[in-house]
Amino acid sequence: MSFKQNFLWGGATAANQFEGGFDADGKGLSTADVMTAGSFDTARHITWRDPETGETGYTELTFGGKRVAPEGTVPAVLAGEFYPSHVAADFYHHYKEDIALMAEMGFKTFRMSINWSRIFPNGDDEKPNEAGLEFYDHVFDELKKYHIEPLVTLSHYETPLNLAIKYNGWASRKLIGFYTKYAETVFKRYTGKVRYWLTFNEINCMDIMPFIAGGLIDGSVQNRAQGAHNQFVASALAVKLGHEIDSNYQVGQMLAYSQLYAMTADPADQLKTLKQMDDTLFYSDVQTGGHYPASRLAYYQREGVRLADSPEDYELLAKYSADFLSFSCYTSNVVTTHEGEGKDVGGNMSMGLANPYLKNSAWGWATDPYVLRIALNTLYNRYRKPLWIVENGLGAVDQIAEDGKIHDDYRIDYLQQNIASMRDAVTIDGVDLMGYTSWGCIDLVSAGTGEMSKRYGYVYVDQDDAGTGSLRRLPKDSFYWYKQVIATNGDDLSN
Ligand code: BG6
Repeated sequence: MSFKQNFLWGGATAANQFEGGFDADGKGLSTADVMTAGSFDTARHITWRDPETGETGYTELTFGGKRVAPEGTVPAVLAGEFYPSHVAADFYHHYKEDIALMAEMGFKTFRMSINWSRIFPNGDDEKPNEAGLEFYDHVFDELKKYHIEPLVTLSHYETPLNLAIKYNGWASRKLIGFYTKYAETVFKRYTGKVRYWLTFNEINCMDIMPFIAGGLIDGSVQNRAQGAHNQFVASALAVKLGHEIDSNYQVGQMLAYSQLYAMTADPADQLKTLKQMDDTLFYSDVQTGGHYPASRLAYYQREGVRLADSPEDYELLAKYSADFLSFSCYTSNVVTTHEGEGKDVGGNMSMGLANPYLKNSAWGWATDPYVLRIALNTLYNRYRKPLWIVENGLGAVDQIAEDGKIHDDYRIDYLQQNIASMRDAVTIDGVDLMGYTSWGCIDLVSAGTGEMSKRYGYVYVDQDDAGTGSLRRLPKDSFYWYKQVIATNGDDLSN
């Protein structure tokens, strides 16, 4: 047994990290456009301005729900600051070259996102921006030329900034209407060009990074709960609309899946691990399973959360759950109740405690040779819906060697272990897997740190952390290795 004949091999990107052209052809600002660059041990900043006094400042981006701009101020682009999303890898002007490289690797699919503020610059505009729609027409036409099937995320870590400022982002139910209008616009426009859609990237990140995942300036527990609820309803409406507009459309969920392991056999550690996994799986229970789990409702009651909802919301959630469940999965993490035990992996977006059985990347992310098999089994047993791994990969520093090439054996090693694990889930455990798109197939900006030097690609992009470089593309050794993996449908992983 092996992968299906039509298995969708490819790579993944997100507009705000890849596209650049942040103000080109009528695009409006998004939440990503006001975030500066950080590093392994320094946080990214969200810059703001007081419209009354002109005072400026910044807030550090950290996990949690603290306000990202003080009362009376608004997130803003400030002169003299560097914002990595503004140029990124400049796919906006390199898409032909980039798609040709993907075709050379034999990609069957390409995961990308549409930048919402390219289509509706303020989010609440009456009419869409035709130039923005045309850009994606060109991209989809180019993909079609090479028979590469797009997988399109409607909202990947960027909300039109105006919606964040005016409505506190997804905390407002108004966003459901703006989003469904946007979804309807692109669903109608790209019929025949796109078949696979994802509604929200890593929807569960609403809990830990509410500004990034939902445009929430005030990410209180109440606002996060409401933000998630509003996205669930919007997602269900997108599934409904998608099916009505084109019966070929498949509209999926996208979950950030991180496997947690208890550090010890202490039942208290086991319980903590189970409850933290529940915090992630709550999001797929609703969006893919169609129902709120009792544990989340009990949590909301304890926290005094009151959802602005209606009985129709719950009918929609049950009736229009996602067609398939896609997820990102890079690593696993360790959990314990034993204060002071275990070694912290460190870093600005800390991944928790180190696993003594695994090796960590320079950013503290462990390479786990079993994680994809565990993830795939967990999700398939729970929902019995087709799965799709839409992000996986190794962020590492790459050096151009004396021979002018990039010998990224460390990346190949990571991918070999992960693809083998995914293959076991399919061939041994019988999981229904639609495809695999590794993250950042062409180098792009890191979401967590804003760095360019945390590279995931098969193709190097000459651009540094300060936004300087020729943007020249250079295939790495992994480019030729992945080409062979795709050509053999995952049978030959050798280097
Ligand atoms: C996922 C996101 O969380 O992980 C991507 O969907 C992100 O947007 C990726 O880039 C890798 O994380 P990072 O912080 O290394 O870019």
